[in-house]
Amino acid sequence: MITWKLIFILAFTRFTTCQNGLGYKTPPMGWNPYNAFNTSFNDTLIRQHVNIIVNQGYLSAGYRYINLDDAWQASERKDNKLSFNSSKFPFGIKDLVDYVHKNGLLFGIYSDAGTQTCGGLPGSLDYEDIDAQTFVDWDVDYLKYDNCNEQRRPEQERYKKMSDAIKSVTAGKNKTIYYNICEWGTSNPWLWGPGVGHSWRTTPDINAFWPSIISIIDSQVRLTEYGGPERGWNDPDMLVLGFERIPYDEQVTHYAFWAALKAPLILGCDLRKVDDKIKALILNEDIISVNQDPLGLSICQVYYRTDNEISFDIWTGPLDDGYVAILFNRGIEPISITLDFKNHCRLDGTIEVYDLVNQRSNGNYANNYTALDIPKHCVEFIKLIGGNNIDDDRPCLNYS
Ligand SMILES: *[C@@H]1O[C@H](CO)[C@@H](O)[C@H](O)[C@H]1NC(C)=O
Ligand SMILES: *[C@@H]1O[C@H](CO)[C@@H](O)[C@H](O)[C@H]1NC(C)=O
Ligand SMILES: *[C@@H]1O[C@H](CO)[C@@H](O)[C@H](O)[C@H]1NC(C)=O
Ligand SMILES: *[C@@H]1O[C@H](CO)[C@@H](O)[C@H](O)[C@H]1NC(C)=O
Ligand SMILES: *[C@@H]1O[C@H](CO)[C@@H](O)[C@H](O)[C@H]1NC(C)=O
Repeated sequence: MITWKLIFILAFTRFTTCQNGLGYKTPPMGWNPYNAFNTSFNDTLIRQHVNIIVNQGYLSAGYRYINLDDAWQASERKDNKLSFNSSKFPFGIKDLVDYVHKNGLLFGIYSDAGTQTCGGLPGSLDYEDIDAQTFVDWDVDYLKYDNCNEQRRPEQERYKKMSDAIKSVTAGKNKTIYYNICEWGTSNPWLWGPGVGHSWRTTPDINAFWPSIISIIDSQVRLTEYGGPERGWNDPDMLVLGFERIPYDEQVTHYAFWAALKAPLILGCDLRKVDDKIKALILNEDIISVNQDPLGLSICQVYYRTDNEISFDIWTGPLDDGYVAILFNRGIEPISITLDFKNHCRLDGTIEVYDLVNQRSNGNYANNYTALDIPKHCVEFIKLIGGNNIDDDRPCLNYS
């Protein structure tokens, strides 16, 4: 068992003694058109979203990256370099990056780790040095490097090659590129990703419906110890907040988990059409501050119960200034769930329970707290303030 205090001390030591360029102390937040638009995006749509992010509170809430996904590229390289589809991007990529930067945002791009993308467009395989230079020439800040058309070459080799190319073209320059390894969790990237990239996808693509959300949550149970500010972030894929066909309570569950798992928070909806209730959820600064907590540690599963009538689990984890817990009703009837401070959080004393979703204090408690009538597929997402830590070992269920 590793203790979270020890992890924190190690992280701090490495930051101060080693210029390893990791440099991203909290998960990235931003927007990417893929979940809402697939490959049908263009300069106009991206600039509209820049304006919304800047003018409607998303930037001040922390959403900072504007990321292009697959199909910004032209079908062929020009002089061996990646080029853009000029009917979608008539002013080119550099012009768009400059617009993004002028608005105080950061710019992400997509490329493929094989010879071609899923759509048959050029990939970076064997062009890593040239493409990394192109990204620097365009002043790109983030790369999502995808595994489509992977040519059966080992992931570690291909992903490290691009990592080395980025390090080499940015060496000695005041320039960093956040590098997202996107091979869908197929070759355990949480084991080899640290030092290669800043985050790694742990799962196949998310889809905007409950079975996809719940299966991704379940697949994270064994991975929670692998992310952190020192190693890099587990990436359970982009958010599907703001999709009308997902009920509000399920969106709350989705957002609570992604925030507390310390996942990158990359929005994927059409921000021109988000209703006020979902927008307030997306901009909830208490949820975001869990994600951006300086300690950077994921929640882990500490309890579960599954039988015919009742199915729920409890996840908890330390914050820099408290503790966070998710009480999750997997079932379809409302249930109450009791959080036991000692067994589930290793805390005692008097503790204030703060409801992060509704942004209000629920009062002070000793020993335990019961969340009443949690609706179907919903969570109570709470922060515990005060109390004493009685053991440095976290109460995570052991799956190793
Ligand atoms: C996106 O488009 C690609 C090809 O254009 C297609 O293969 C894929 O299934 C689409 N994805 C979604 C989520 O619609
Ligand atoms: C840009 O993309 C959006 C979203 O797919 C589409 O509605 C719009 O017609 C496109 N605009 C141009 C100029 O192609
Ligand atoms: C640009 O994108 C359009 C729309 O998806 C596509 O029809 C066209 O073939 C692409 N052009 C190039 C040069 O790749
Ligand atoms: C380095 O880049 C950052 C971000 O673009 C900028 O704010 C800063 O002034 C640069 N520092 C130097 C020494 O050029
Ligand atoms: C919760 O704590 C109270 C005292 O604060 C105690 O009376 C009660 O038995 C506890 N309930 C559970 C389920 O542990």
